[in-house]
Amino acid sequence: MKKTVCMLLAALLLLSLAGCGSSGASAAPDSVIEQIKAKGELVVGTSADYPPYEFHTEIDGKDTIVGFDIAIAQAVADSLGVKLNIVDMSFDNLLMSLANGEFDMVIAGMSSNEEREKAADFSDVYLPSKSIILIRTEDEEKYKDLEDLMGAKGGAQTGAIPYDNCVKYCGAENAVGLTKVQDLVMELQSGKLDVLFLDYMTVLTYAAVKDDLSAVDVNIPSENPGYRIAVKDGNTELTEYLNGIIAQLNAENAIEQFIVEAQQLAGLEE
Ligand code: ARG
Repeated sequence: MKKTVCMLLAALLLLSLAGCGSSGASAAPDSVIEQIKAKGELVVGTSADYPPYEFHTEIDGKDTIVGFDIAIAQAVADSLGVKLNIVDMSFDNLLMSLANGEFDMVIAGMSSNEEREKAADFSDVYLPSKSIILIRTEDEEKYKDLEDLMGAKGGAQTGAIPYDNCVKYCGAENAVGLTKVQDLVMELQSGKLDVLFLDYMTVLTYAAVKDDLSAVDVNIPSENPGYRIAVKDGNTELTEYLNGIIAQLNAENAIEQFIVEAQQLAGLEE
């Protein structure tokens, strides 16, 4: 089992080598960038329930939010020469709070879609996305293909794109949306849910650290090829600045390194 997970992980990591982005923009005197610099901090919204993207862990006895998205946010803060201030909230409220001006940007393993693009602007893709399922290991023979999912009790995070897949493939009457991913995992372990729809690296993390859970790739068709950083609607200056940083991080293979570090913090073996 562990071996399969590692191989799948290695294959998926290769996907992350695909670089994308444009070059950074220079900032005008009273620009958004200058405002962030003047304020001395980059305020970033996330939903820290998604290892290894973003999650809570104890570092030196202190609860800390870590993950490869957080490492990317830190790289942005460093490049601006400001402090990083992470605000943790439920995933389905992130874009609303961004629109209300509560943060400078949102990074949360988030893909864009038509609806989200009405509410926010998005950077280039920093990593390709993929959705797979998490099941109980004892059910490994039961769920092998997309067709096997119809009628199963499916769970996904409220407001997340995988929830739409859950409705589609398990049936609307069998789909359950919960705010916190940890609650979904508990319901799966206790048998209240049969299948969870989450992003691949979160599924692989849980499958690796919990003996009773397994990852299955049922080839869910994806219309959302990658994760992006969201900024306030119309904030072209910050979008272009972020695209410059994403291009640079990709050129240095830094995101790949951030992923390895985040997986170690999440308890995944190498
Ligand atoms: N990738 C999915 C989406 O964009 C789910 C992301 C959930 N992220 C989180 N930090 N809980 O809808």
